[in-house]
Amino acid sequence: MQLNWKWSSEKQYPLCVKLVVSILFLGLAFRLLFYRTNAFLNVSETLVSVDFQENRDRIPENGTQLSNNFNRSVSVDLDQSRYELTGKLNQYPENSTQASENPSVSPDLEQNKGQIDEHNGAHQPDNPKPSVSDSFPESRDQITKKGLEYAGFLIWHDYNNAEKCDLFTGDWIPSSSGPRYTNETCSLIEGHQNCMKNGRPDTGYLYWRWNPRDCELRPFDAELFLELMRNKSWAFIGDSISRNHVQSLLCTLSKVEQAVEVYHDEQYRSKRWHFPSYNFTVSVLWSPFLAKAATFEDYNGVSTADIQLHLDKLDSAWTNEFQSLDYMIFSSGKWFLKTAFYYENDTTLGCHNCPNKNQTELGFDFSYRKVLQNVFNFIVSSNHTGTIIYTTSSPDHFENGEWYNGGSCRRTEPVKEGELEVNELNKILRAVEMEEFEKAAAKASEWGINLKLLDVMQLSLLRPDGHPGLYRYFHPYDMDNSTKIFYDCLHWCLPGPIDSWNDLLMEMVLR
Ligand SMILES: *[C@@H]1O[C@H](CO)[C@@H](O)[C@H](O)[C@H]1NC(C)=O
Ligand SMILES: *[C@@H]1O[C@H](CO)[C@@H](O)[C@H](O)[C@H]1NC(C)=O
Ligand SMILES: *[C@@H]1O[C@H](CO)[C@@H](O)[C@H](O)[C@H]1NC(C)=O
Ligand SMILES: *[C@@H]1O[C@H](CO)[C@@H](O)[C@H](O)[C@H]1NC(C)=O
Ligand SMILES: *[C@@H]1O[C@H](CO)[C@@H](O)[C@H](O)[C@H]1NC(C)=O
Ligand SMILES: *[C@@H]1O[C@H](CO)[C@@H](O)[C@H](O)[C@H]1NC(C)=O
Ligand SMILES: *[C@@H]1O[C@H](CO)[C@@H](O)[C@H](O)[C@H]1NC(C)=O
Ligand SMILES: *[C@@H]1O[C@H](CO)[C@@H](O)[C@H](O)[C@H]1NC(C)=O
Ligand SMILES: *[C@@H]1O[C@H](CO)[C@@H](O)[C@H](O)[C@H]1NC(C)=O
Ligand SMILES: *[C@@H]1O[C@H](CO)[C@@H](O)[C@H](O)[C@H]1NC(C)=O
Repeated sequence: MQLNWKWSSEKQYPLCVKLVVSILFLGLAFRLLFYRTNAFLNVSETLVSVDFQENRDRIPENGTQLSNNFNRSVSVDLDQSRYELTGKLNQYPENSTQASENPSVSPDLEQNKGQIDEHNGAHQPDNPKPSVSDSFPESRDQITKKGLEYAGFLIWHDYNNAEKCDLFTGDWIPSSSGPRYTNETCSLIEGHQNCMKNGRPDTGYLYWRWNPRDCELRPFDAELFLELMRNKSWAFIGDSISRNHVQSLLCTLSKVEQAVEVYHDEQYRSKRWHFPSYNFTVSVLWSPFLAKAATFEDYNGVSTADIQLHLDKLDSAWTNEFQSLDYMIFSSGKWFLKTAFYYENDTTLGCHNCPNKNQTELGFDFSYRKVLQNVFNFIVSSNHTGTIIYTTSSPDHFENGEWYNGGSCRRTEPVKEGELEVNELNKILRAVEMEEFEKAAAKASEWGINLKLLDVMQLSLLRPDGHPGLYRYFHPYDMDNSTKIFYDCLHWCLPGPIDSWNDLLMEMVLR
């Protein structure tokens, strides 16, 4: 076991504590030789929080469309579908006929028929929940080896994080270890985030690690993670940030085993992978609003009609899968900034950003709040025995403009705390999600639901250097001047800072 951390002076513990820990450690290691690990996994949990986002990638063909349709402050319209389009092109032969199969009415429409209208099942307060169980291999040797490592991890963990360290307050510190995978070792990196392949010249952004202020964060251990996840299933549910995140996890795990894609939907938006040696399943479920929504966009990602969002109905894309999943990582937010009409009981309630439509402007915070309330109500009253994590919104880093009018991100190093501020829209999104999460977390602990927060807001804010920027395109410097190109200062390069979210996830899974 390696405990080769550089302990800073504040993190020194007295010798006697170390001695006690060593003894405990030995004891645990022995126990692990004879017992399965369940018992150790029931370490009690507190909330941990984190957030994430969306996709800004579409290039509208008509620049003018933008100024008409998008209020400047509504920067999120970074579209999705262009993104989808390119994703698809990456999957298919260049001139595939997919375009004709891609109706301007998004498939979400179909998917969402048969939605759940009600989700207030009775509660069951004393619902015991083993969050991780039976995760050890059968072979004695493996049990020994992994058991020892795991015992070490836990001991180290309890020792180090005795006071419920806040994982999300800290700093990025230089790290010589570099990325855990590259464009050569992982084939699952989406073209738009494959900064290495696309020719990003600087590599400094790869040599940092997140260091919580009051404890050490152990780097992700792919082998241990996979061991713990035998027979388990995970899903990342949300928008393009969820997709960004799932790719980071799959690539990180790929050095132990390559994931095998076993499913994709027609649009390549939702996918499922399997790790055969571990019988571990990972999915990404496309559900940018988490609620039932009809989106209308043409093949180029230009809106052909306004979004219809049903605030009282959840998206069956994830509710149908809910009970079969052991771990779920939700994220949402950015899509709520788009122009949309809001419905409740199938009747219009109002809208956001729709002047001259004779509708009440309700604001995106109104709809985001309503939807999150429904999502959390559903979760809290679900009797689910797995682990459910809500990822907070992560900020974008467009400077000197928005994504569509010249905004860029050219930094090559993290910033210090206080150097950048969260913009107004992100502040509003965050306020909503934090308030609703806190309320839900209180109920969740009462009803025995394992709900946690992965709070990536602050740590992401410090990484303006981690976005693809122009390197969302392959060799952007080769493009001729007539091509209108946009920076992506929202998603993350892979490898990149988003990989550290998995360190946090692992910590949360173990706690
Ligand atoms: C977009 O451009 C095409 C061709 O340049 C034009 O026919 C179409 O009307 C434009 N659409 C909008 C909304 O401006
Ligand atoms: C965008 O919204 C802001 C605030 O809601 C408003 O002041 C501004 O006039 C709007 N701009 C456009 C182009 O609609
Ligand atoms: C592209 O389309 C052409 C004609 O439409 C077809 O002959 C060719 O096989 C296609 N290429 C691929 C890679 O499918
Ligand atoms: C995984 O499932 C298989 C088949 O149900 C079972 O034999 C095995 O013990 C399980 N492994 C773990 C670690 O739960
Ligand atoms: C990976 O990126 C490098 C440039 O950083 C490039 O030379 C190489 O061709 C890329 N490999 C793949 C498989 O994309
Ligand atoms: C794989 O895991 C699932 C539970 O997620 C279990 O039902 C199934 O039996 C396992 N299969 C094998 C071959 O272990
Ligand atoms: C929708 O229906 C519910 C229950 O039937 C009712 O309480 C609520 O007020 C209705 N909302 C609207 C906007 O009609
Ligand atoms: C605006 O809506 C109200 C009530 O929904 C309706 O009475 C009124 O006729 C509408 N006005 C216009 C110009 O459509
Ligand atoms: C949760 O469990 C309780 C008690 O078993 C049950 O009444 C309720 O219907 C369950 N809720 C859901 C959503 O399954
Ligand atoms: C791009 O624009 C620059 C001046 O802005 C010009 O010198 C150059 O020739 C152009 N390149 C191409 C490929 O059009």
